[in-house]
Amino acid sequence: KKIAVLMGGLSAEREVSLNSGKAVLASLVRQGFQAVGIDVGRDLPKRLAEEQVEVAFIALHGRFGEDGSVQGLLELMGIPYTGSGVLASALAIDKIASKVIFASAGLKLAPYQVLRRGEELQLANPLPVVVKPSREGSSVGVGIVRDPSRMQAALDEAFRYDSEILIEGFIDGREVQVGILDGKALGAIEIIPKGEFYDYEAKYTDGGAQHILPARLPEAVYAEVLRQGEKAHAALGCDCYSRVDFLVTETGDCFLLEVNTLPGMTDLSLLPEIAGGAGISFGELVLRILQAASL
Ligand code: DAL
Ligand code: MG
Repeated sequence: KKIAVLMGGLSAEREVSLNSGKAVLASLVRQGFQAVGIDVGRDLPKRLAEEQVEVAFIALHGRFGEDGSVQGLLELMGIPYTGSGVLASALAIDKIASKVIFASAGLKLAPYQVLRRGEELQLANPLPVVVKPSREGSSVGVGIVRDPSRMQAALDEAFRYDSEILIEGFIDGREVQVGILDGKALGAIEIIPKGEFYDYEAKYTDGGAQHILPARLPEAVYAEVLRQGEKAHAALGCDCYSRVDFLVTETGDCFLLEVNTLPGMTDLSLLPEIAGGAGISFGELVLRILQAASL
């Protein structure tokens, strides 16, 4: 079967996606598959037809790729694809829509409020707060506000990327991420960023953050965060794989941040590292994601 690795694309995470895509493509080629990379643009339908693509491996991140749009196009064209379907993708990318579902599934969330462009902020939570665009990844447009004088700049920055933003109460906890494959938690990794939080630079600069696998949590809390990760994945109706991000407090409370339906597959990315800790090589991870491709 001819596989196309869809990468790059039109989002703010384009560079990250090119790195994920290159790693996936190289792995597929190494494993003897007939695979090509396609840098996704507005001409994607034409490219898919020209290349006679039979399966799409989606290595896109962010909008126009992780949000259900490309998944919908592939459905229409009858091309099986990896990862979650249209609805789960669209829900997961939208931090506002997904929180409603997480809350109804009984998952623990930081207190938050939504602000739409043009609305005036009536701050609902005491500082510090975390300001973030609803539909972005890799911490693009995210800022922590500790001082009221910094609020407007943080709002402006988040509004650069989306017309709807979130203002969440700051949770003082460890950043813990759970890797999911075939709907089951593989393990949890802890991130200790060099700077204030796990921002874009910390994510993609070698040495920008320390990764501790498995996360240093009491046994019961570790088991709980894995369980919550599986629950969040299932609540959105995700397929096959995802990476679920949490903040875990000293008291063992697991605050769910988000589900990433197309987690990074770069050298510094965490799902491959978590999989490695579970004895699953990068090649095997790619293979298992491919094998679960469907329409
Ligand atoms: N949004 C980035 C790619 C991640 O979740 O890994
Ligand atoms: Mg994300």
